[in-house]
Amino acid sequence: MSKCLKTLIDSSSKEEKYRCLTAQIDAILDGEPDQIARLANIAAALKQTFDFFWVGFYLVKAGSLVLGPFQGPIACMRIAYGRGVCGTAWKEQKTIIVPDVELFPGHIACSSESKSEIVTPIFSGGEVIGVLDIDSNQLDDFDATDAVFLEEIVRKI
Ligand code: SME
Repeated sequence: MSKCLKTLIDSSSKEEKYRCLTAQIDAILDGEPDQIARLANIAAALKQTFDFFWVGFYLVKAGSLVLGPFQGPIACMRIAYGRGVCGTAWKEQKTIIVPDVELFPGHIACSSESKSEIVTPIFSGGEVIGVLDIDSNQLDDFDATDAVFLEEIVRKI
C-alpha cells in the first residue's frame, strides 16, 4: 500500500494529509489543460480528504465572483467585489480565515450549517482570477497550516 493511501486511511496529521493531497493534485492536473476539469477534481480531492462541509471555487467574471466547480450543498452563485468572505479575500488579495462566520461582518450565509471558513485567492499575472472557498460545519476548523497548503494548491491552478 502506498504511504499516502495508508496515511489517509490512518487519519494522520493535517500536514501529512495535505502532503499526500498535494501529490494527488499534481497527478490530477498532469496533462489536463481544461480549467473546469482541473478545478472540479481539486474540489473533489479536498472534499474527499478532509470531508469539509463545502469546497468550491468562485471565478472572477465581468467584475463579480461567479460560482465554479464545487462539492457540497447548493451555494450562492454570484458575489460582489468586497462582499462576504470571498469578496473580501479578492479585494484584500490574501487568504482570510474566519473562525466563527457569525462574527465576520458581512459574511454571506449560503448554509446555516457553515460555522467556519477559509478563502484563498487564486492569482494569475498578479491579478486575482478567483478564490478557493472552504466551509466547515465545525467552529475554528482552519489555521495557518491550511492557509499554507491551500495557497500552494491554488498556485498549481
Ligand atoms: N460564505 C461565503 C459565501 C460562499 S459560501 O460559503 C459557499 C462568503 O461570505 O463569501
